Order: sequence, then C-alpha cells, then structure tokens
Amino acid sequence: MKKKQITLIGAGGKMGTRITANLIKNGGFITHFCESSANKKEELATKGIQVREVSEVVPDSDFIILATPDTVLGPVSAQVVPMMKPDAVLITLDPAAAYANLLADRDEITSVVAHPCHPSVFGKHLTEEEHADFFGGIAAKQDVVAAKYSGKDSLYEQSKEVIRSMYAPVETVHTITVKQMAILEPTLAEVITCMIGTVLNESLEETVKKGVPEEAAKAMLYGHIQIALAVALKGTNPFSDACMVAIEYGKEAIIKEDWKRVFDDEALDHVLKEMLHLDHAIQR
Ligand SMILES: NC(=O)c1ccc[n+]([C@@H]2O[C@H](COP(=O)([O-])OP(=O)(O)OC[C@H]3O[C@@H](n4cnc5c(N)ncnc54)[C@H](O)[C@@H]3O)[C@@H](O)[C@H]2O)c1
Repeated sequence: MKKKQITLIGAGGKMGTRITANLIKNGGFITHFCESSANKKEELATKGIQVREVSEVVPDSDFIILATPDTVLGPVSAQVVPMMKPDAVLITLDPAAAYANLLADRDEITSVVAHPCHPSVFGKHLTEEEHADFFGGIAAKQDVVAAKYSGKDSLYEQSKEVIRSMYAPVETVHTITVKQMAILEPTLAEVITCMIGTVLNESLEETVKKGVPEEAAKAMLYGHIQIALAVALKGTNPFSDACMVAIEYGKEAIIKEDWKRVFDDEALDHVLKEMLHLDHAIQR
C-alpha cells in the first residue's frame, strides 16, 4: 500500500521535536518537516533533518500536523488549509484555538484535535526508561484524547494511526468533543491540576523556610502526594479521622467556596481569551 504523507509544521518546537522523533522512529509514513525559526532549523539540520517549505509539501500531504503555538494557529491554519488537497486531515494538538473558532477550515478537509494525556501516575511503569518518561512519547504508555472538529468520520478514524504514532506508545485514544477537550485542558489539567502542582512546590519552599531540613520535607511531601492521590482517587484505604479534620481545615483556609465556577462556560471563555492573547471575546 502507498505510504501516507505527513507534514509536521513547527518541527523544532517542544512538541514538534518529540513528534519528529516518533514519526521518524515509526518509519511507516513519508514525512516532511517545516520550521520557521532559524535557530530551530539549524538544530534540525544537525540531526540530519531536512526542513521544507510549507508550500512545497502541504499540497501532497494526507495529514498536516500543526505543532505551532496556539496563539498563531489562526494565521498558520489560514495559510495551510487552502493548500490542502481534498480529504487531507489537519491535526492540531490543543483544543483552545478550535474551541475559540480561530482555526481556518474548508468543506473538503477534515480537522482533528489530539492531545496527549501523559503517562498516568497510577500506570504500570516497569522499566527505568518507563519510570523516567514523565511526559510520555518515549517509553511509558499514555492515553490520548481526540476530537473531530469538522469533516468526515472515516478520515477521523484514519487519523488515529497518525495520532498513535505521534504520541507513541499509546494505550487508548479516547474520542470526545472539542468542548469536552476544552473542559479537560485547560480547566481540569492546567487551571486545577498544574496549579495545585505549583502550590505543592510553594508549600515545600515554605516548609523549608520554617527550618525543616529540605530532604526530610521532600521525602514527606513526595510520599504523601502518592498516598493522598491513592486514597482520594483510588479509595485504596480511608483517610484517618484526624486527617479528615485537617483536610476540612485546609479546604476552609485555602479553597474559595465558589471554586467550582472554573467549570462554567464563562470562566472557560475567560481563561482561553487570556491564553490565546485575544483582544476580543470568544465568538460562538
Ligand atoms: N509544550 C507542551 O507541553 C504541550 C503539550 C501538549 C500540547 N501542546 C500543544 O502543542 C502545540 C505546540 O506547542 P509547543 O509548546 O510545542 O510550542 P513551541 O513554542 O515550543 O514550538 C512551536 C514551534 O513552531 C514554530 N513555528 C511558529 N510559527 C511557525 C510557522 N508559521 N511555520 C513553521 N513553524 C512555526 C516555532 O518556531 C517553534 O519551533 C500547541 O498547540 C500546544 O498547545 C504543547
């Protein structure tokens, strides 16, 4: 069977570098790599990767992956989409631009968003390499969430092979909607989970400022992150009665009563407007 052609735009960026490595490792596709930054082009050249012009490779490609910053996905998709052949698939890596209606689109193409879940804290990471692969895409299995933004279901299904290759090794691709993906990212993943990660780090710094030896503080924090997640999310065993009292005190002292409003549509629109640096409200 004829190999499918894939163009990756933004090949020298954080995601682009990872996806470039995985597409090359897969070997099952004809791959083209585009990058606009001179420094990143040089880095790619030192790895023996030839950088091509968008206009040269997009018209023949079956899949075009945009690994550019979300803030420029509007203009980049406006450049790329008119060049795409009918039944080609555009793949973006984050739901923000699609949800905010900033992505260029065309009746003849299919547009898909696919975001990595990252390896689970409860995953079975058996080897040293799997343990060290916190981000995913190297050795530890991860799931992916994917959504069809527009176009044909059959092409969305075909794109899963590319998505699995981009983020390999992949366990499950969860098909959801773009709106559901926006609730997952930014709301669940960044607004809440990444924010709590940074609060944990600040808590460690405060603990050390109070005179607790740093290594003792880290040992206690890292162990308690694991047991707190296991009890709260997996119900491995109950929190003790005294711990429940401390949890309630912490919630009252730290969490605002109306914090769940971050799940409201208005809050999602607000945070996406800030993240995408928009000077206008999100249009629906
Ligand atoms: N970084 C992450 O951890 C992460 C995780 C999941 C999803 N994402 C998503 O991946 C996408 C890329 O994010 P990133 O963090 O890798 O960005 P990045 O800034 O690290 O890389 C973007 C790359 O695109 C290049 N670029 C910009 N405009 C271009 C153009 N017109 N033509 C060719 N190249 C161009 C830049 O030079 C840069 O190398 C975003 O949609 C982001 O939301 C990022």
